[in-house]
Amino acid sequence: LSDLEIAAQSIIFILTGYDTTSNTLSFIMYLLASHPDVQKKLQQEIDETLPNKAPVTYDVLFEMKYLYMVVNETLRLYPIIERIVRVCKKDVELNEVLIPKGTIVTIPTYSLHQNSTYWPEPEKFYPERNRKNKENINLYIYMPFGNGPRNCIGMRFALKSMKLALIRLLQNFFYPCKETQIPLKLSKKPFLQPEKPIVLKVVSRD
Ligand code: HEM
Repeated sequence: LSDLEIAAQSIIFILTGYDTTSNTLSFIMYLLASHPDVQKKLQQEIDETLPNKAPVTYDVLFEMKYLYMVVNETLRLYPIIERIVRVCKKDVELNEVLIPKGTIVTIPTYSLHQNSTYWPEPEKFYPERNRKNKENINLYIYMPFGNGPRNCIGMRFALKSMKLALIRLLQNFFYPCKETQIPLKLSKKPFLQPEKPIVLKVVSRD
């Protein structure tokens, strides 16, 4: 790689690697604060898997089924990168539509995630839907990390670090919804983010 390419890659990593994870964590905390039943259930799973605030191990991150569902469902409702883009490399015809070489094709992740054909009551935060649909999830409909050979290179790292952060937060605090603004308004800036910072009340569990 040339110096310029190294600099470009480093900037991309900072941009794609930081805000994506921190904004998704904010959305998860908002959803937990506004859905105390889900928060309680997740806290129960964490306490049962790691009694007395035991430190998190690598394997434990994969054992927690409800944690998996909560993270996936948040990424369905709030896919930080709300659309993915490809440049067409050669002329193709799809359903009688010609897409000429060089066309920029945009795939609307956010809209696909909200489509009621695939997700009953799509606006509802319902983590269990991920368990029920696990085998049936169409990877061209649910794609918070994109798809294909150029999907998110940081996906596994992002999922692990978000789960780790969530476990540590919920082991120590709970989040009653007192100060939180509902419903959340989304900003119109690129990258899905709240219009105003999410305000949470934090109470120690001790
Ligand atoms: C919740 C966290 C994250 C989400 C939702 C997310 C989502 C995405 C999406 C949708 C894409 C485009 C994929 C496509 O076009 O098919 C992407 C690309 C990318 N992501 Fe992430 N990402 C996250 C975290 C991270 C992290 C932590 C890193 C790095 C440590 C990272 C690095 C990248 C890079 C380098 C690309 C460009 C890949 C390429 O063009 O080959 N992402 N991400």
